[in-house]
Amino acid sequence: LTFFIIFPTSLSQSNQFCDASLPSSKLLIKGGTVVNAHHQQIADVYIEDGIIVAVNPTIPVGDEVTVIDATGKFVMPGGIDPHTHLDFEFMETATIDDFFSGQAAALAGGTTMHIDFVIPLKGSLTAGFEAYEKKASKSCMDYGFHMAITKWDETVSREMEIMVKEKGINSFKFFMAYKGALMINDELLLEGFKKCKSLGALAMVHAENGDAVYEGQKKMIELGITGPEGHALSRPAVLEGEATARAIRLADFVNTPLYVVHVMSIDAMEEIANARKSGQRVIGEPVASGLALDESWLWHPDFETAAKYVMSPPIRKQGHDKALQAALSKGVLQLVGTDHCAFNSTQKALGIDDFRKIPNGVNGIEERMHMVWDIMVESGQMTVTDYVRVTSTECARIFNIYPRKGAILPGSDADIIILNPNSSFEITAKSHHSKLDTNVYEGRKGKGKIEVTIAGGKIVWENNELKVAPGTGRYIKMPPFSYLFDGIDKKDAFYLNSLQAPVKRAKSST
Ligand code: URP
Ligand code: ZN
Ligand code: ZN
Ligand code: ZN
Repeated sequence: LTFFIIFPTSLSQSNQFCDASLPSSKLLIKGGTVVNAHHQQIADVYIEDGIIVAVNPTIPVGDEVTVIDATGKFVMPGGIDPHTHLDFEFMETATIDDFFSGQAAALAGGTTMHIDFVIPLKGSLTAGFEAYEKKASKSCMDYGFHMAITKWDETVSREMEIMVKEKGINSFKFFMAYKGALMINDELLLEGFKKCKSLGALAMVHAENGDAVYEGQKKMIELGITGPEGHALSRPAVLEGEATARAIRLADFVNTPLYVVHVMSIDAMEEIANARKSGQRVIGEPVASGLALDESWLWHPDFETAAKYVMSPPIRKQGHDKALQAALSKGVLQLVGTDHCAFNSTQKALGIDDFRKIPNGVNGIEERMHMVWDIMVESGQMTVTDYVRVTSTECARIFNIYPRKGAILPGSDADIIILNPNSSFEITAKSHHSKLDTNVYEGRKGKGKIEVTIAGGKIVWENNELKVAPGTGRYIKMPPFSYLFDGIDKKDAFYLNSLQAPVKRAKSST
């Protein structure tokens, strides 16, 4: 049930500045409960040319304005997914969702911006960036980039500077797993952290001990465990806890903020909780799959069903999901991503005889907003304002694009969703908008449906219909030195001052 109405690109605005030759697009969202991360009120929201102009209890407008009645509904900032992989070449194949299909799916699910991971080409950041610029040229919603660092030399160090100062990248990801592919060692991690700090860029880690995972995988194969359950058994939570602790301590040693992507276990979450308790700036990102699912699926007798749940770090035993939810509700974890990395059943079948060859990744870009609403808000674990914080605002703050994104305020981009708390959603592969033939949330239902998505001031999702066009999404540059860097230099100075003067020793006479 996929309705795509594709508008020709020539009719659409492709940059943030209003083209005077186009008729201005004026929109009023009337009578809804407008929710920001720190405040909610019943108000109208008036939008002109992609920008929010006013938020007031009543805004009178003329006939030329399109009016949407939001009475009884929540009007919230569009979701921002901090962690996606569209058109990603990985494990002998490439993800099935590209920048158009993945983003169309996102918009249908209330996400209006995502941040994807640029992977360098043969270690070259510039070549990687150019490749991703091309991939993203078919975008239909706003996006930003993180960049992975996969090797270390003077060129990489210089390119990081160019990425931050010229290309709008303010975060770099280090893979502590995927031995023989993306994995880096501690020496590189330290060099990378130091460089990030000097540039005001946020260091991110995929935290699993890759050497131990490699051992674990060999052991499972030797034991004759070749199916998807071997994936979970080969890389237990303790290896995620170890790498998380190591990354946290190295970031503390360098004195730079750290972002831990896809926190999947209690082990990793507790390391983050302890570090934050001691005042360290560590951000923890759970993903929808880790909050909503448990590992039992990996033991399913049908390979296709089991394989669709293979991602890294693995979805954990029952109990980890609830603990991650509690951590999110208490602010121990700060924002929710998806790690949307979609491989269809044919691709997953690459590992039919060996779980090590099952492409790692699950869907989520379209489901995140509904799943988090259901698990956190409907369940009573989280307020609506906190929902806005963890799905949108905190991401915008961390990546330094707030309040352009992540807020319903005059001057902010008009990326807005309207959620009806009294209607219901249902997730199925038949009705979703991703190119995937499966869905890890197959059959999930709940109360609270995103009925309208507005991106850049245009209604792109309404009445279960998508109106999107390739080439209309914009690249959002993200400046360095977010709030996480405030006072970092003062802490360095404090540390230097606290060092004792070198001990003066008399020359030995012997
Ligand atoms: O299994 C996963 N997570 N695939 C995507 C790559 C990554 O590690 O984020
Ligand atoms: Zn990862
Ligand atoms: Zn991942
Ligand atoms: Zn990822």
